[in-house]
Amino acid sequence: MSKKPAKKVKVQLAGAPKGMHDILPQDQPLWEKVRKATREISDFYNFHRIDTPIVEHIELFERATGQETDIVQKQMFNIASRGNDRLVLRPEGTPGVVRAYIQNGLSHMGQPLKLYYEGPMFRYEQPQAGRFRQFHQIGFEVMGGEDDSLYDIQVMQACYRLIEELKIKNTTLKINTLGCKNCRPVYKKKLQEYYKNKEKDLCVDCKRRLATNPLRLLDCKEEKCVEMKKDAPVILDHLCASCTKSFKGLLEYFEELDIPYLPDHYLVRGLDYYTGVVFEITTEGFDFALGGGGRYNDLVEQMGGRKTSAVGASLGVERLIEVMKAREIGEAIKPKPRVFLIHVGDIARKRSLGIIERLRQANIRVKESLGKDSLKAQFRNADRAGAPLALIFGQKEAFEENIIIRDMVTGAQETVPLAKMAEAIRRRLK
Ligand code: HAM
Repeated sequence: MSKKPAKKVKVQLAGAPKGMHDILPQDQPLWEKVRKATREISDFYNFHRIDTPIVEHIELFERATGQETDIVQKQMFNIASRGNDRLVLRPEGTPGVVRAYIQNGLSHMGQPLKLYYEGPMFRYEQPQAGRFRQFHQIGFEVMGGEDDSLYDIQVMQACYRLIEELKIKNTTLKINTLGCKNCRPVYKKKLQEYYKNKEKDLCVDCKRRLATNPLRLLDCKEEKCVEMKKDAPVILDHLCASCTKSFKGLLEYFEELDIPYLPDHYLVRGLDYYTGVVFEITTEGFDFALGGGGRYNDLVEQMGGRKTSAVGASLGVERLIEVMKAREIGEAIKPKPRVFLIHVGDIARKRSLGIIERLRQANIRVKESLGKDSLKAQFRNADRAGAPLALIFGQKEAFEENIIIRDMVTGAQETVPLAKMAEAIRRRLK
């Protein structure tokens, strides 16, 4: 008896990890649009590109982003490596840039040094609209130079203009200040006093934060905590003279620009390194922030560098693209081909490769179907591609070193020598 052939077992692949997505070909034009605008805006405002590793030591984020933050406490992707080093996938870009600035002595490159980056970040979050586990950030960081609100404005301006460049309208730039080492402790005390007899009604996280970092209570999204903050004291009433002056200075700089802003006295942000002005950009109809940032004057020193003024911000690329898609803006399509190459027969099919190369050298965008489709199907594809001209290359043409150029609108045809093809196409496309 002959043995039955063993049954092939179909392996069922798990999908991409939760909260992580493929960026499909149809979305690439939008991504490219964002990347192009980022390059142009960064170039214009003199930001230099920097790329840092996607993997860093966990201590970097524990020390910079902050032990008390959700990012460090709940959202790190730890890497099981062979060595004893504790590595993680970076949850945000700023700490890595600060590390690179210190490690490579970048302070010599300029005072201030303006840097930008773009790339994937990882946070173990509960995925929802605009919130993923792998997402991409565009970031701007200004390090060194004077502690001047002018640079806060430049960072906000870079973010705002980039969003504007992408034709995203109806945005709000919310700003606040967290005060300095002198006035922030006074404000924290005021907050603790305010919440003291409300403590039992706070959510678990806020109960814990009340003692360690009461500012974060203002950032809580739990309904009862949101309700409770309505009468909380505001930082503006507790700023020292120097912080009041610098916040006023910031507002004066805004007068120079046509960027609308909205003071939001409860904006505190979820990262521990901010030392003064903080801001976020939102857009109508979406619950999430498109981006945010602030001043972090202590971080470089805290990480082992010299005392260095710094300010920065990041934008979320997936969120920008989600808004662009929802509003049907900037659906940039790949430029249409100028010609569509149709072949008839095997010899012509083989020689089509050489014709495509000639067209590339002449910088003429071509689309082709090199499969074994019928002539009729190829004409249908040519129609769909939207090229104004079709090139028809058959056995006879291959033999005589000619090619037929057909106007896809009028149907008029002309046979030209292959050597003169590019010239003839250009003449017709004019
Ligand atoms: P962040 O507010 O944590 O700040 O993130 C900045 C932006 O990244 C957010 O406004 C959002 O657009 C995007 N983003 C954050 N988490 C997610 C997520 N899970 N899914 C999709 N998008 C997300 C920072 O990361 C700071 N490093 C900003 C900064 C730079 N501050 C000073 N310099």
